[in-house]
Amino acid sequence: QLVLDVLDKDGAINDTRTLVLPGQTEPASSQDAQIIILGALNSLSSREMITYTTQETLTHVLTPEGASIALNGSHEARVWSAVPAKGEGSTVTPKDVEKLLGSEISKVGQGRAFKNKWIGKEGNNLVKLASEIVDSTQLEMREVDSTGTLKTGEKALADLRKRKLISQRKGQWFTVQKGPNFSTSTAKPETDLTVDMLTSGAWKTSTFKKYNFEAEGVPTSGGALHPLLKVRDEFRSIFLEMGFAEMPTSSFVESGFWCFDSLYVPQQHPAREVQDTFYLSDPSTSLPPPQEYYKRVARVHEHGGYGSTGYRAPWNDAESRKLLLRTHTTASSAAMLWKLAARCRGEVDDSKEDELATHSGATSKNQTQIKDGFRPAKLFSIDRVFRNETMDATHLAEFQQVEGVVADRGLTLADLIGFMRVFFKKMGIENLRFKPAYNPYTEPSLEIFAFHPHLRKWVEIGNSGMFRPEMLEPMGFPKDVHVHGWGLSLERPTMIRYGISNIRTLVGHKVSIEGVEKTPAVRF
Ligand code: PHE
Repeated sequence: QLVLDVLDKDGAINDTRTLVLPGQTEPASSQDAQIIILGALNSLSSREMITYTTQETLTHVLTPEGASIALNGSHEARVWSAVPAKGEGSTVTPKDVEKLLGSEISKVGQGRAFKNKWIGKEGNNLVKLASEIVDSTQLEMREVDSTGTLKTGEKALADLRKRKLISQRKGQWFTVQKGPNFSTSTAKPETDLTVDMLTSGAWKTSTFKKYNFEAEGVPTSGGALHPLLKVRDEFRSIFLEMGFAEMPTSSFVESGFWCFDSLYVPQQHPAREVQDTFYLSDPSTSLPPPQEYYKRVARVHEHGGYGSTGYRAPWNDAESRKLLLRTHTTASSAAMLWKLAARCRGEVDDSKEDELATHSGATSKNQTQIKDGFRPAKLFSIDRVFRNETMDATHLAEFQQVEGVVADRGLTLADLIGFMRVFFKKMGIENLRFKPAYNPYTEPSLEIFAFHPHLRKWVEIGNSGMFRPEMLEPMGFPKDVHVHGWGLSLERPTMIRYGISNIRTLVGHKVSIEGVEKTPAVRF
């Protein structure tokens, strides 16, 4: 209102430092006052009531020592105050002054007070020589504090700067002109055009707030992908760009046959015990598996075949029929490979389009066909698996597995290793090591290690291998068709990627919804 009134009276404000703010007696020459004025200028100019230009200036502010002098007086004045007048009776020695004011103030203060002839010596005692003093340093401090400068000019300012009582600071002041919407009324401008304003005609005389096209707007609330789903999406795109097709993996419940037997996991294997695997109680048994295949699998377990001696342990049909929560997505891979081998078993009429063509990842329908009908395939899946784990910071009873299998004639271990390097490179992991490992269904088996740049050590990131003939040949694959596969968890790279150390902040009831909404998408 002050700015508008002065503009109305004088037509312009040439220097906002001359304004006297409401409740003040002195002009607003300090920087703090100019900042208050700037706030008002911005608000008025956004309504185009005024225009203003900024002028740069150098002002001065008090250092902490200067501020203390403004409050308590200069060192010399404090020494003078501490000393009695001549003949006053009491005695004060330099030591007493030091005790009272501290050595720094008393030393500098006594020096100056003597020089100014404010105090003198009488024997060992100090006495006042001047009955009254003008503490010009304190007055200067107060002047700088309220005006940012000294009337006496630059020389005095330079002296105070040298004494480290004041320092220079960039300041601003403003010149102000009337704007196109100038008026002395600060009534808030309208923000909306209302029906009332239209019918009454008030819109003709109203002032409207300018539309702010730069405003970010209120954030909209909407769905957000969980970090695991973002990383899953990234894995999917890596697989898809490498020509893989996604396997159907919706069956969380599998039979012991597909989860273990078909993979040549012995029926006595510890992973199959209740402390590792969740079994279903209702229903507890599966429908019978495909009979011919089932017989071949039972035979290779019990008696061997295809060049193998088998496990030579009695086969148990009940074990095979138990229903369980799948412990790995390799159960789905096995079922898909068995379907893929249907052509080799002569069960698929090639002239008909079938489900496999869309699921095999084969690049062309006219793939070279050899007598047994085999077509190469690249398949992947990313889905949930369940294990009866003791839960801790890095383990839950379920996690997601990323799995790939490649089937082709004459594949070798070198193909698998080469493939791993390409796959992980796409995730930004270039430093790989392979360590011999054991899986019942692969030989050789390799654990994959990557160098973790932040942990500065090698961490296991996956498991892989060449599927055994005991698994592939009962399915009907010819001997020269080799299949390699590998698996890793989705959680581990996600936790590393987002710097999460406890699985419970990623999965479960402790996940922060806000965190999920704000987590950026991942790019490997
Ligand atoms: N099923 C293995 C696991 O759970 C991963 C794997 C898949 C290993 C395919 C080899 C071949 O760790």
